[in-house]
This record gives sequence, C-alpha cells and structure tokens, in this order.
Amino acid sequence: MNRASLEKRPDEVAAMFDDVAPKYDLVNDVLSMGQTRRWRRIVVEAVGAKPGDRVLDLAAGTGTSSEPYADAGIDVVACDFSLGMLEVGKRRRPDIDFVAGDATNLPFADNSFDAVTISFGLRNVNEPRQALREMLRVAKPGARLVIAEFSSPTFPAWRTVYTEYLMRALPAIASKISSNPSSYVYLAESIRAWPDQNGLAAWISDEGWQNVAYRNLSGGIVAVHRAEKPGGTGAGAPAGTARRRRDLRTAG
Ligand SMILES: C[S@@+](CC[C@H](N)C(=O)[O-])C[C@H]1O[C@@H](n2cnc3c(N)ncnc32)[C@H](O)[C@@H]1O
Repeated sequence: MNRASLEKRPDEVAAMFDDVAPKYDLVNDVLSMGQTRRWRRIVVEAVGAKPGDRVLDLAAGTGTSSEPYADAGIDVVACDFSLGMLEVGKRRRPDIDFVAGDATNLPFADNSFDAVTISFGLRNVNEPRQALREMLRVAKPGARLVIAEFSSPTFPAWRTVYTEYLMRALPAIASKISSNPSSYVYLAESIRAWPDQNGLAAWISDEGWQNVAYRNLSGGIVAVHRAEKPGGTGAGAPAGTARRRRDLRTAG
C-alpha cells in the first residue's frame, strides 16, 4: 500500500493519490464531517470568476474543486499529476478539461489564466514555493490566486481537540472506510508539519504575489489565502484586501 513520507517525493505522492482515487471524495466528506462543501463554496466566492474567465484549478484531483466553475459555465482547467485521480475525474465529469501536469513545472504558457486556485494540494507539493512561482508565471497580470489548505486552529482548546482528532480518530476512521488508510496518517503528519497562516502568507508574498490576505474557516482548521499578481489595473482587488503583509487580517 502506498503512502508518501514527509519528504513528499513526487512519485510517492502521485502513487498514493492513485491509490485513494476511487474513494477519495467519499472519504473526504466523512472525515471532514461534511465541512468540505462549505469550505469549497467559500473558495469559489473568493476566486470570484466571471463568465469569459479562464481558471486554473491546480492539484485538482478528481475535479471536485473544479466542478463549481464548470457548472457556472466558466472555462476551468483541472490540472493534477496523479493519473488515477484524473481518470476518476474524467469519468465523472467528461465536460471538464483535465490536464496532467506537475505544479512545479506547469504545462501552460505565461500569463494565460485570469485566476489560479489550489485546494488542499499545495501541502502535498514537493516544492511548494516553486509551485507558487509557477502559478505566478501562468497567471495574467492582476489575476487572483486563491489557496485553500489545512492550517492552525487559532484557539488553544480547539487546537488540542483538533490535534487529538487528527492524530488518533482520523486514522482510525480512515482504516474502516479508505482503500489506503496509511495515506491518512500521512495526511495528519503533513498537516502538522505545514506552516501556519502567517507562514504561508509570507511564502506567497516572498514569491512575488501582492495584496496577500487570508480568512480562517472552522476556527483555523482551514485557511483560505488570496493574493494578486502584480501589474493589473487594480479593479480586481478584493474588498478589504491587506495592502502589506503586516496588515494581514483574518475573519471567522
Ligand atoms: C488532497 S487532493 C486535492 C484534490 C482537489 N483539489 C480537492 O479539493 O478535492 C491533492 C492533490 O494534489 C495533487 N498533487 C500533489 N502534488 C502535485 C504536484 N506536484 N503537481 C500536481 N498535482 C499534485 C495530488 O495528486 C492530489 O490529487
């Protein structure tokens, strides 16, 4: 059975997702107790794509994170490097444009997307900062970046409950319903090793994005970071976006 280590070797990560692909969405719904649906809605709102926009959904897996755009008639490209995840996605949603590609070396031209988004993917990428640079390269000037990722609960008591869930309950539940329970041990470990909200915001900003801000969801279990590629007209700046990193704000 495949599970990646915290080294996140691309071949191991891809093989692990190939393994979990058939039951990926079901297990997600169970383990998040249905929260993923709400989180996904908020991501789509943050992307704010309009008809005519071209959106890149990176590390799109089975395309669940890409579906809302396709449903709204927006041109979405679902890119991932796990062929197993892409196959499940293509079977389920033949209307979505699934593309095999590595986040650290994207098969797209410079300045070709109006928005770039990645949900629960960046943490799995071997070189996440290189992926942030690649996303910047393929985004048009002024394009929006939206990242949803597990993060750090903000209240100590909530953090304790959540860590207990992550390290004990989650692998136990996954062992009953997943085809690859050990991958959920990786999930728990990789979440704990991931930078907190401000740490990720610093990476995004350091890699050249501007107006970086984030919003905590479910008490900080998930954070949605957003930013813009410099060079736009400014019209696309989200309301309330922080102008400098030290101005970062959070909302519940
Ligand atoms: C947890 S899934 C998220 C799928 C989808 N975005 C969602 O919200 O359900 C993470 C995905 O990241 C993909 N991934 C990890 N590293 C990648 C890389 N370097 N390039 C492309 N995809 C990658 C995996 O193959 C997997 O499908």
